[in-house]
Amino acid sequence: MRPKLYLARPFPDPVMAVIQEQFQLTVSPADHPPSAAEILAGVRDAQAAICTLNERMDAGVLSAAPALRVIANYAVGYNNIDVEAAKARGIIVTNTPDVLTNATADLTWALILAVARRVVESDQLVRQHQWTGWSPTQMLGVDLAGKTLGIIGMGRIGQAVARRAAGFEMNVLYWTRSERPLQPANPSWQRVSFEELLRRSDFLSPHIPLAPDTHHLINDAALRLIKPTAFLINAARGPVVDEAALVAALREGRLAGAGLDVYEKEPELQLGLRELPQVVLLPHLGSATAETRIRMGMMCVENVLAVLEGKPAPNRVA
Ligand code: DGY
Repeated sequence: MRPKLYLARPFPDPVMAVIQEQFQLTVSPADHPPSAAEILAGVRDAQAAICTLNERMDAGVLSAAPALRVIANYAVGYNNIDVEAAKARGIIVTNTPDVLTNATADLTWALILAVARRVVESDQLVRQHQWTGWSPTQMLGVDLAGKTLGIIGMGRIGQAVARRAAGFEMNVLYWTRSERPLQPANPSWQRVSFEELLRRSDFLSPHIPLAPDTHHLINDAALRLIKPTAFLINAARGPVVDEAALVAALREGRLAGAGLDVYEKEPELQLGLRELPQVVLLPHLGSATAETRIRMGMMCVENVLAVLEGKPAPNRVA
């Protein structure tokens, strides 16, 4: 008898093939975020759940799932899961670290380059038949070489972003709460205080998990310390940045621009954000490459099978 799995969303085909072979699906997933009622119905008889960052797996959901033994989150961040409630019920929680590091770091750089060189504005100019030919003063951006990239949080993704900065001849500053030595430590990366990082960075990019102490870490006070020529990038979690304060800073010219992949209330955006041409807006694509999404799905399946077979979950977070 194959175990019952609640799968919140359809995954790429190679992952679906493995899932169909290994499990009985307790719901037939449709590609839209499930409602609270759909989640409750889905987990009711399930021994395992694979969910995405959109599904809130809170105490109410967990108490509706008496047979549930494991939740595999299809993301590295797991702020959508009430980990304490899971622990209390003996439910193991896993995530997908490492496999999405390069994809997320690459996307962070896509945003850095897009805001620095006004890629999206320029594309629109051409598409809208506004381009009348080469001009010495058209769509001027800023150089990256010699500029300072400030990284908040020096975990796997923060370090992968920092490594890529060498190719663009940028200086790297970072701030991290962790006391762990960096692996590998790069002698040219300089650790500074949070305030110094804000004051000195030309491009500022958080790569930290969302937790109560990182919620609105970049708030109005922080934004007021950033140079008016600097750009804010966010491919981590939306609520790390106070979006209303960000819109105010951009409108008032206290910040040169922003490249955002994540938002406080996805898929909604703070009023005014869409209207700002100096902002590049992506629909939460950090890990969205075919190879990465397949690896993430396979990792979820491995974790679920390990738990159901009584083995240690390779990517257990709680
Ligand atoms: C993550 O893993 O946290 C990403 O945001 C998913 O795309």
